[in-house]
Amino acid sequence: MQTLTIIQPDDFHLHLRDGDAMQSVVAYSARQMGRALIMPNLKPPISTVAQALAYKKRILAALPENSNFQPLMSLYLTDKTTVETVREAKAAGIVAFKLYPAGATTNSDSGVTDLFKLLPVLQEMAEQNMLFLTHGEVTDPEIDIFDREAVFIERVMKPILAKVPNLKVVFEHITTAQAAKLVCESGDNVAATVTPQHLMYNRNHLLVGGVRPHFYCLPILKRESHRQALVDAVTGSYAHKFFLGTDSAPHPKNAKENACGCAGVFSALTAIELYAQIFEENNALDKLEAFASKNGARFYGLPENSRTITLIKQSQKVPESVVFGDNEVVPMCAGQEILWSIQEA
Ligand code: DOR
Ligand code: ZN
Repeated sequence: MQTLTIIQPDDFHLHLRDGDAMQSVVAYSARQMGRALIMPNLKPPISTVAQALAYKKRILAALPENSNFQPLMSLYLTDKTTVETVREAKAAGIVAFKLYPAGATTNSDSGVTDLFKLLPVLQEMAEQNMLFLTHGEVTDPEIDIFDREAVFIERVMKPILAKVPNLKVVFEHITTAQAAKLVCESGDNVAATVTPQHLMYNRNHLLVGGVRPHFYCLPILKRESHRQALVDAVTGSYAHKFFLGTDSAPHPKNAKENACGCAGVFSALTAIELYAQIFEENNALDKLEAFASKNGARFYGLPENSRTITLIKQSQKVPESVVFGDNEVVPMCAGQEILWSIQEA
């Protein structure tokens, strides 16, 4: 049986939620990832240092015994974030700020209305070597949902990079050829995370033969040429600028299978197995370790994890759903056979 041992991966984009919901899902990530960058879009958002430190404690308390999983905390950028907040965050060991343009996605109501008003805050982030993580979509209702990432690049990303050229930016969950190109053409201070669903699916998966709410996430799945561009990005000559960030975003089953279904794909259950399948399908299994376990750590200025994990080419059936607080959540590839498994130690 084919096996593949790699340095333990990190997930640089993870939604864990809180309370019983978090308690139900955190072990799935801890089982495979060494670290994860925890997204701050709770209700209310994690926008102060005190909130982030308290949330970190709750995450650590929810971990299984003997887990080596380390949550890396981020703060939710708001119109009220100050230069002082950046300094305090740095001193408290928080590694990043996350931009949600107001109204862009789940729990983004407190997001930023005009990023250009926060230029001194971004300059301070650059100064303090803190990362700026961005949900890269405009929220202008005039802009077609499939164009929102490409328009964000022109209206926000390029001007911000011109104004704060040394800002360390992670373009989160990129979905388009334009975003991949921007990352490749930018300096070493610009990188991107790529989710399993955007590497595996295009918008036909979401819409052909019926609306399939479990494929709905934001940024929305794009046409096939964009999916192909993402595969090329993570396997190509600029692959060192792209790394694993699942954007695993669990929602209760009934909130997804709904007349107004919410955005998010829950991939944490089998994340590394899915990435292995994608890389293998594209004859790039040899590039998986850099994507999953090296590029992100390097960009974040962290050492690589000291443990390893072994993947085995043995299929597994993904459950139809798993417990999620007092509800259930449907994982990515629910009910399907996927090709790789993790070898239990
Ligand atoms: O699909 C998404 N779900 N995209 C996001 O940006 C947020 C996430 C969530 O928190 O559910
Ligand atoms: Zn996210």
